[in-house]
Parts: sequence; C-alpha cells; structure tokens
Amino acid sequence: MNAQMPSKVSLPGVKQVIAVASGKGGVGKSTVAANLAMALHISGHAVGLMDADIYGPSVPIMFGLGMVDPKTTVFPIEKYGIRLMSMGFLVDVNQAVIWRGPKVAQAVQSFLTQIDWGQLDYLIIDLPPGTGDAQLTLSQSAPLTGAVVVTTPGEVSLIDARKGVKMFGEVRVPILGIVENMSYFEDATGTKTPIFGVGGGARLAQESDVAFLGELPIDPRVAQCCDQGEPIVRKYPDAAIARSYMALAKTVADAANKPTATALPFLQL
Ligand SMILES: Nc1ncnc2c1ncn2[C@@H]1O[C@H](COP(=O)(O)OP(=O)(O)OP(=O)(O)O)[C@@H](O)[C@H]1O
Ligand SMILES: [Mg+2]
Repeated sequence: MNAQMPSKVSLPGVKQVIAVASGKGGVGKSTVAANLAMALHISGHAVGLMDADIYGPSVPIMFGLGMVDPKTTVFPIEKYGIRLMSMGFLVDVNQAVIWRGPKVAQAVQSFLTQIDWGQLDYLIIDLPPGTGDAQLTLSQSAPLTGAVVVTTPGEVSLIDARKGVKMFGEVRVPILGIVENMSYFEDATGTKTPIFGVGGGARLAQESDVAFLGELPIDPRVAQCCDQGEPIVRKYPDAAIARSYMALAKTVADAANKPTATALPFLQL
C-alpha cells in the first residue's frame, strides 16, 4: 500500500462521480457500469464512463469501439450519447500491458486530470476487480460521491464483496449500495430459478448496514449485447433486465443526490 496519500483530483464540471466496484472478478461490474451509464443517459442526464481497468479494459468492446489514433482523436470519445475513456482506445487489449503499479495509477490519474469531461451529471467509473493498489489509489484520488458494489449471490463472491465494502470504509468513500447480479434465471413461464444461491447480496447489505439496490437476473442477451457493442438497456429496452437497470439507475441517482450521501456513516467492519 502507498504510504503517500494521492492528492484529490478536482472535477469542477462533474456533479457526481460514482465508482462501480467488487472484490471479485467476473461478477458483472463492467456490464453494470455500462448499463448504468446508458440508463442514466436515457433518463436524460449527461453521463461519462471511465474505464479504470487498465489491464483488462472492457468499455471499447461494450460500445463497439477499438483503438484510435491519439494524435487525431479528441477524448473522451462519445458513443450513444455517453462520453467514454478507456485504455483500450490507446493500446491493443490483446497485448498484455506490463506496467507496474505506479504507472497504472498515473494512467488512471491522467484520465481524470488530462481529459476534458466537460459538464456531466454523472461520471461512472468502472473499477478493476479486487481491492489492491489500483482501487485504493483511485478511491483516494477521484472525487467520489460514492461506490456501488456488485456481487453475485454465491459465498465466494460475497467474501470478496465484503472486502470491497471494507476498503471503501477505510478510505471513507460512502457505499451507495450493493447490487446483486445474476440472481436468477427467468424462463418463458415466469419461473425464476436461482443458479448461484439466494439472497446473498441482501444479506451482505444488511450486515454491512448499507442499502440493497436490488437483483439483476441472468439474461444471455447481456453477453451478446456486450460483444456486439451495444448495452442491453439500449438494444432491448423492454427486456426485464433492461427495466431492472433503469430502476437501478434511478435508485443510484437518488442515493448520490441525497444531501446526506457524503455524510453516510463510514463502515467499520
Ligand atoms: N446479468 C447477466 N446475465 C448474463 N450474463 C451476464 C450478466 N452480467 C454480466 N454478464 C456476463 O458475465 C461476464 C462478466 O461480466 P463483466 O465483464 O461485466 O464482469 P466484471 O466484473 O467487469 O469482470 P472483470 O472482473 O474481469 O472486470 C460477461 O461476459 C458479461 O456479459
Ligand atoms: Mg470489468
């Protein structure tokens, strides 16, 4: 861990900065971040999405974009009305990025400081998995309104999500809430089958004394839409999960705009 505290970046044109995080990889952070950003935009807000996953950026693929020439491109890049920034615009995602910690932190800092995000209601930050240096640096240096922690219902994911909750508590970033992804599969008859366990996200929220933001179903079209470069909330707005993302966006926006958001009790687990 860095002994030095990174200095807080100021983003005067950005009203709310929200990190989407989880302790564990592959639980759906990037999908939640992309669809949350899209849902907020559809709801009429000015939105940016910053991909802080330097080693495994997913924003370009999820928005149907690739590498660009930085000499001729103005960042952030706008797609579907959302302002985007990702390492994947600058380096080939198939080439392993072998940067060490400080350089990663520098890249993330420069996304915040050297890019003109303009006036935004919400800047959503897609964090890499885990609770290491990269997450810590960003949590300390970005002017975060709060964090949304994503988990799946299974115990392993919950253990890691708990670490995520604890990390934000340590750096005094309020948790806006916990969202449980891949909660169940709903078939054509409306029968809901839990695949990865039941109620873990709600339990974690309760034991951590933070809001539970809801459950998101499993929908194979989520992955298809990601691969095809259009978030499901835009491509299939009538899908149950799209409606869940819209509801999530409203709950997150309400939590972020509560005057007490920055005065939430910090977690001491
Ligand atoms: N609700 C869902 N239903 C079906 N598939 C989903 C759902 N949410 C996410 N996925 C799929 O699960 C995979 C992992 O999702 P995603 O990349 O968003 O996770 P992540 O937490 O960002 O992963 P990483 O830790 O690698 O950054 C992707 O293929 C995504 O399309
Ligand atoms: Mg991701």
